[in-house]
Amino acid sequence: MKVMLAPMEGVVDHLMRDMLTQVGGFDICVTEFIRIVDQRLPHKTFYRYCPELHQGSKTPAGVPVRIQLLGQHPQWLAENAQVAVELGSPGVDLNFGCPAKTVNKSKGGAVLLKETQTLYDIVKAVREAVPADLPVTAKIRLGFEDKTLAVDNACAIAEAGATELVVHARTKTEGYKPPAYWEWIAKIKAKTSLPVIANGEIWNSQDAKQCQQQSGCEDLMLGRGALAMPNLANAIKSGATPMRWDEVADLLIRYSGYEIYGDKGRYYPNRIKQWCGYLRRQYPQAGVLFEDIRRLNHAQDIVKILASQSSQDRVCYTNPP
Ligand SMILES: Cc1cc2nc3c(=O)[nH]c(=O)nc-3n(C[C@H](O)[C@H](O)[C@H](O)COP(=O)(O)O)c2cc1C
Repeated sequence: MKVMLAPMEGVVDHLMRDMLTQVGGFDICVTEFIRIVDQRLPHKTFYRYCPELHQGSKTPAGVPVRIQLLGQHPQWLAENAQVAVELGSPGVDLNFGCPAKTVNKSKGGAVLLKETQTLYDIVKAVREAVPADLPVTAKIRLGFEDKTLAVDNACAIAEAGATELVVHARTKTEGYKPPAYWEWIAKIKAKTSLPVIANGEIWNSQDAKQCQQQSGCEDLMLGRGALAMPNLANAIKSGATPMRWDEVADLLIRYSGYEIYGDKGRYYPNRIKQWCGYLRRQYPQAGVLFEDIRRLNHAQDIVKILASQSSQDRVCYTNPP
């Protein structure tokens, strides 16, 4: 089975991809969406979203990273897709699921799920622009307000030549509220031969199994669940037990290493607080940590608190020199 790390704007950037792919279990990552309006973006934009392009578009752990584009104009999307693959992206993913109002107002993301023909036109144009040996993939929700077009949209994307399809099993209106309607993915799969990857509301191995059964998909994409339990992909693939909290604390400290040396100021304090929000679902300790660090704005102060919770510290403590 293949497990993909979901694109998450403002959350899963190259540093998070690095962390999570080091933990393991992921076969491919997708970048945060790059918004395409009416021009060919400069190379530096692609490198900003996907610094991995400098290393063959792979994370340091060797996991491929595919660039995701979002927009409404087939031609501009096609031109930028061409740039993405020229710079080394192993294919291009198209975002047809973003619920953000600003994005939808300019006719990008989930709003396109109302326009089956536009989906077809975009995928076709991008498919023609990207060499045939590289995948053009799409990520959809089940619809905008309702699910009436779910199957038609998937079929249009398949007919236009997409290589595979990720389905986040909810409509735009359903947002991120449980449940995810995995059985709807099975309806899509029944009508198209396109390989389909199931996504939405997978938080543990049990969810993964249920999702696979109900959707009929072997392959899965994990978003928030991978942040809540960093070794979720391995738990699903090989039955690994959830990471202990002290191991998570180690991971959070390692994450700080990037920032302290990368000189990004507030980045680490902000992101670590954000990550606590996801982690607290699996680890009550993350809620306590959040309270302890919420007013701290320097990485070093946060690391001091984390150090008292990490396994490294425990090893030192139990084995004094
Ligand atoms: C904060 C956040 C940012 C997201 N950004 C993107 C994005 O850039 N592109 C995309 O296709 N989906 C994006 N998504 C949707 C996720 O990729 C995924 O489909 C969704 O979270 C459901 O999966 P999950 O239940 O495993 O989290 C985002 C979701 C969240 C919560």
